[in-house]
Amino acid sequence: MASTQKLVLGALNVSYNFHFAGLLLITFVIASVCGKQYFQGLLMIPYGFVQHCDLFSGRWVYDNVSYPLYKGKQCSFMDDDFACEKFGRKDLDYQKWRSQPHDCDLPRFNAFALLKKLRGKKLVFVGDTLNRNQFMSMLCQIESSIPQSSSKLSHVRKGNSIIFKATEYNAAIEFYWAPLLVESNCDDMEIHHVQDCIVRIKAIEKHARYWTDADILVFDSFARWLGSKTTLLWGSFGSSDAIYKEVEMRLRVYEMALNTWSDWLENHIKRTKTKLFFMSLSPYHKNGEDWSMDTGGNCYNETEPILSEGHWGSLTDRGTMQIVESAIQKLETRGLKVMLVV
Ligand SMILES: *[C@@H]1O[C@H](CO)[C@@H](O)[C@H](O)[C@H]1NC(C)=O
Ligand SMILES: *[C@@H]1O[C@H](CO)[C@@H](O)[C@H](O)[C@H]1NC(C)=O
Repeated sequence: MASTQKLVLGALNVSYNFHFAGLLLITFVIASVCGKQYFQGLLMIPYGFVQHCDLFSGRWVYDNVSYPLYKGKQCSFMDDDFACEKFGRKDLDYQKWRSQPHDCDLPRFNAFALLKKLRGKKLVFVGDTLNRNQFMSMLCQIESSIPQSSSKLSHVRKGNSIIFKATEYNAAIEFYWAPLLVESNCDDMEIHHVQDCIVRIKAIEKHARYWTDADILVFDSFARWLGSKTTLLWGSFGSSDAIYKEVEMRLRVYEMALNTWSDWLENHIKRTKTKLFFMSLSPYHKNGEDWSMDTGGNCYNETEPILSEGHWGSLTDRGTMQIVESAIQKLETRGLKVMLVV
């Protein structure tokens, strides 16, 4: 995999230089341990700002002056899954680490600027808990920035969607639960802790019809593909002539799902309207050895980031990242630009 990728975030004419290394990966390590406190750049960095700054070359800075960016307990959008403080976590220092690129400073999150950009528009996050966490973090930051207008912020659940509206701005931010992008038996947002997912690898329309009118789509899907075996279903759930087949070609199956996703995008996305993003995976962070623990340990009790620059997480799955990269490159040859966020 190329270590550096130049990406043009067309939605806002932002040019990024993305490094597939250390810093952001560690961001995810810590953030995924317990609720992210940031939304990584994506939508609020002014044009020209990072032209000559590699956002992925940098370090962690402990910043207890300007952080945390919001209080989880006060955020009305916080799901229990991510509400560490509510369920008794005492150490909250994980909320106070700021990623500091070597060559520039990142601007602060600005809720007003974001909502202004989203005026009359719909931003939809699609995927698994990684995007759900990003989505929630964004909502919490918006709410904590403009508490006086919170009466004009609303949020409802409907099927696989969580729909947030800032009425004053006529802006919608949504999350759509589709952890494998294609259809599966893990598609229930509440009851999704199914041990082995059964996947309809060619079927996406049931979910995707909710994405067509979005102005910005941010996808992610990886956690459910990490198991060694996947069961594929040909036909429909519950039908008598359905064929089930257990396969071990994990990466190949992931590629098939992304092909289904790509075909759908090619046929349904209005190129002049919708901006597309794909969030890459978070590094594997459950291996205690990364924190110099004994073999077999996990990240339990760890409260500080790994500070060495360039750290990847020992079991981080680069194979799936490469498949995403190649799917996105193929889409580009078909006239569709998807910005990869790593
Ligand atoms: C911030 O952290 C420093 C160093 O740990 C400490 O001395 C200081 O009291 C902290 N300030 C606040 C506001 O928590
Ligand atoms: C976590 O820390 C507590 C308190 O120090 C200790 O009793 C416990 O064994 C630790 N758990 C793990 C899995 O390391």
